[in-house]
Amino acid sequence: MITLGIESSCDETGIALYETGVGLRGHVLYSQAEMHAQYGGVVPELASRDHIQRVIPLIDQLLQESGINREQVGGIAYTAGPGLMGALMVGACVGRSLAYAWGVPAVAVHHMEGHLLAPLLEPEVPEFPFVALLVSGGHTLLVQVDGVGQYQPLGESIDDAAGEAFDKTAKLLGLGYPGGPALSKLAEQGDPDRFTFPRPMVDRPGLDFSFSGLKTFARNTLEKHFEEETIAADVSRAFEDAVADTLAIKCRRALRQCELKRLVVAGGVSANRRIRSRLSEIAEGEGGMAYFPRPEFCTDNGAMIAFAGALRLEAGEQSGLGVETRPRWPLSELAAV
Ligand code: KG4
Ligand code: ZN
Repeated sequence: MITLGIESSCDETGIALYETGVGLRGHVLYSQAEMHAQYGGVVPELASRDHIQRVIPLIDQLLQESGINREQVGGIAYTAGPGLMGALMVGACVGRSLAYAWGVPAVAVHHMEGHLLAPLLEPEVPEFPFVALLVSGGHTLLVQVDGVGQYQPLGESIDDAAGEAFDKTAKLLGLGYPGGPALSKLAEQGDPDRFTFPRPMVDRPGLDFSFSGLKTFARNTLEKHFEEETIAADVSRAFEDAVADTLAIKCRRALRQCELKRLVVAGGVSANRRIRSRLSEIAEGEGGMAYFPRPEFCTDNGAMIAFAGALRLEAGEQSGLGVETRPRWPLSELAAV
């Protein structure tokens, strides 16, 4: 069966076609990042309006490019949440309506389940169970994954998500939006020994995170050393090292607590090279390995939604005729497949 996936939860319109037993047949992505950059962050109303203009033309384009006829599409998966209400409504309305018009089932997909399963699109697939670290602009979550839809929360951020901390710190440094990739690039020129930022909450038991203090630490360091030429790069490097190290310490703790060796890392921040290498080291140190999506499927995309939706549709799951959107939706509420 070929599943059409539609992602529109934030500032990316992602469309993909996934064929069960064959793999990904094609995907297209339109990023609104440039439009939001002038405002320093995502403007929800502008995001919704842009999705409305893109989603149908992108579906047409993808069907054409991949040589797939719409009669071959056997089901439609759309992101129902979590995310921005208006943005979600666009993908959900289009997905639900197309499925009705084409006489195929539709399924409402959890955006974070999409991220979590994205590494399964790669050639080397992790076996269940594993520990998953989800690090995006809106979430930092550690979960024990026993199977598709079987998610036991282990810890989460009590304030800023990891990606949000990257974006806010990048803003302080005048790096624009989204700041994660830009900060990471600048960090390459930074001196790793110039500053040491704290590793928040590692001296306390448990698996929760707190990243908002790092932003304050960055601001104070900048103010104190503003006249130094390399300050922005050095602060970027110290910040990135602190996030990477904190995530690594908590992931090792989670692997030990769950007595597991496989670590899956996904979400926008998992595109970060230093974080990828730190987390690989940790998993290998525990006798296992870390699994990541390819960089383009770390950030929001349609492929992960088509894939997660295909697994659920194949298991007989489908959504009703109503347009389902859930801006807030705990991962633990999902049904096992
Ligand atoms: O998963 P995602 O595309 O959207 C959400 O669901 O939130 O994640 C976006 C986040 C942004 O905060 C962005 O700055 C961050 O991921 N990000 C990165 C990198 N690439 C994207 N952070 C650090 N290093 C990167 N290379
Ligand atoms: Zn995302």
